[in-house]
Formats: sequence, C-alpha cells, structure tokens
Amino acid sequence: MQSLLPLTNKVISIAPMMGWTNPSLQKLIKVIAPNMMFYSQMYHVEAVIRRPDKLTYLSENLIFQLGGSSPEKFLQAGRVLKDIGIKKINLNIGCPSPKVQKGNFGACLMKEPNLVAECLSALASSYHSNQLSVKCRLGVDHDDSESFLHHFIDTISKETDIKTFIVHARKAWLSGLNPKQNRDIPPLDYERVYRLKEKHPKFHIGINGGINKISDITEHLKICDEVMIGRLVLNDLYKIHEIDAYYNQYNTSSRGSLLENLKVYNKDTGRFLQSLYKSMPGCKEWRRKLPEIENLRQLLSLSQQNSLLATQEIG
Ligand SMILES: Cc1cc2nc3c(=O)[nH]c(=O)nc-3n(C[C@H](O)[C@H](O)[C@H](O)COP(=O)(O)O)c2cc1C
Repeated sequence: MQSLLPLTNKVISIAPMMGWTNPSLQKLIKVIAPNMMFYSQMYHVEAVIRRPDKLTYLSENLIFQLGGSSPEKFLQAGRVLKDIGIKKINLNIGCPSPKVQKGNFGACLMKEPNLVAECLSALASSYHSNQLSVKCRLGVDHDDSESFLHHFIDTISKETDIKTFIVHARKAWLSGLNPKQNRDIPPLDYERVYRLKEKHPKFHIGINGGINKISDITEHLKICDEVMIGRLVLNDLYKIHEIDAYYNQYNTSSRGSLLENLKVYNKDTGRFLQSLYKSMPGCKEWRRKLPEIENLRQLLSLSQQNSLLATQEIG
C-alpha cells in the first residue's frame, strides 16, 4: 500500500493514559501497531524510586512518563530508570486532576516553568537532552494566552536545552472541571500548536487531542513532527492498526491474524481488546464473551466464532 506521506522523521504515538498504557497494552501494541511510539502511563517519581521492579515495559519504542516536582527526587528517579534500561522520559505537565494538583505536579506546573526546568535538569544528569521531553497543555485557568505558552516553552528550552514538546491542544481548568471534562470541554486550538512550531522550526513539536482520522493525521504532520493519539486506542483498536499500516506502507492484517500473533494473553489484555471488532457484525457478542476468556487458545476460538458470525450476518 502506498502512503501519501513519507514518514521521514515523523512520529505517531500512543498517548500516556493512566490505568491503560501499561506493560500489557504495550505488548499488544507491538503486534497491532509496531511502528508507533508508546508513552507509559504517568508514574510519580517516588513510585519509581520505591518499586522499579513493577516497571516491566519493553524498552523499545517506549517513552516513560514521569510526574513530580522535586528536583532531588527526579535526580534519583532518573538514575533508577537509566539502570533498568529506560531510554526516553516525558514529563507530565498536563494532568489537571485534584489529586495531582495537591501533590503540586501535572498541569499546575505550567505556572512554574523554572521549577519544571530544574526537574528536567536533574534528569539530565542521567539522560541527554534529546532523550527528554515535556507534555503540556496550551495553558491553565486564565493563564491561557499564546505568550504564556511561549514563555513556558522558551524558559524550559533555554534553561535545559530540551527541544521536544508535545502539546495537548486545549487548556485545562484546574478547578471546576474534572479530568474527563478537561479532555473534552476546553476547545481544541490546533493553530496555536502550529504557531509554536513556526516559532521554533528546529524543535520537535507534537500535537495531541481529538485526532482520530488518517486525513487529519496527514494534515497535522505537514506542520508538526508528531501526532499523539489517545482515546482512539481504547475506542477503536483496529483503527490504530490501520493507521500504522497506512503510514508504514504494509498491508493490514485481519483482526483474527493479529490475535494469532499475540504471544501471551491475560485478563488485562482482554479489556484492551474490547473495541477490536467495533462496528463489525458480532461485536456485541465479542464484547460480552471476552471477560470469560482465560487464555490465548480460548481467545482464538472466540475470534473464529466471531468471524463466522460476521460472515453469516453479512451474507
Ligand atoms: C483514561 C485516560 C488517562 C489519561 N492519563 C494520562 C496520563 O497519565 N498522562 C498524560 O499526560 N495524559 C493522560 N491522559 C490524557 C491523554 O494523554 C491525552 O492527552 C488526551 O486523552 C487527549 O488525546 P485524545 O483526544 O487523542 O484522547 C489520559 C487520558 C485518558 C482518556
């Protein structure tokens, strides 16, 4: 299949999602969309220092997301992550949840770019600046002017030499909206991200928020360096396969063949597969029976029954 856009130096990535982008999903994505970068869910620096044994990610195509606000803890966490083979780290400056605000990290740190720079400088004692990145919003609360965003990015890039920023193209309200509402209600403004890229043509600028279609990805990649995809992974997993195949010029596999390529299956994998047959005949049956599945053999058998269902209904 011919891609309309050669993906030289461009990145398509799976967004960090708490409770979802864990090692089990990473293994599944390796089969479904092997060329995509994968951001882990956010881990607080303290959790990394305390339990590095829990971080059983594959190091390939992984960007590990950290949250926190103590430079000293970032120094320690950086050493721990380096020791277990993590190659790239992203700092979460976009999460608006009350719990995260209480810990003084996430989106509220957009108001403290110098502290963010100090945390990143601490990581830079274990990592090169091109292995480090920041994910942020357009702004927070009433600090939502374009100059606020530019000041945030300028301060960090000058203080640390970090030049990779992924921007969720909407602001966050720190009070009044819960995290889910903060992913939907503040309006998307992609043009602001484009203008950030225009201002810093040599920076790697990623764009995120509401991007679900190949045609939209192509448009964003004409300007930005990375498109980050979040909820689509949970809502329509096969689309992620189609996107990877399209931009990397290979033929898509059937849903059944993708499942045959899974090496392990556990209950956790099951919840990621809920949307695999979205909008296909038999999808309700698939979703209903999936929680009962205990191993790969049962999964393949269910998928075969499902494709039979699909053919009968189409016929
Ligand atoms: C369930 C869930 C958990 C999330 N957890 C994180 C997180 O840990 N770190 C982060 O930076 N963003 C997190 N996000 C935000 C996503 O990374 C992304 O910015 C957002 O969903 C917008 O992208 P989308 O419209 O493609 O979903 C989360 C989103 C969802 C839906």
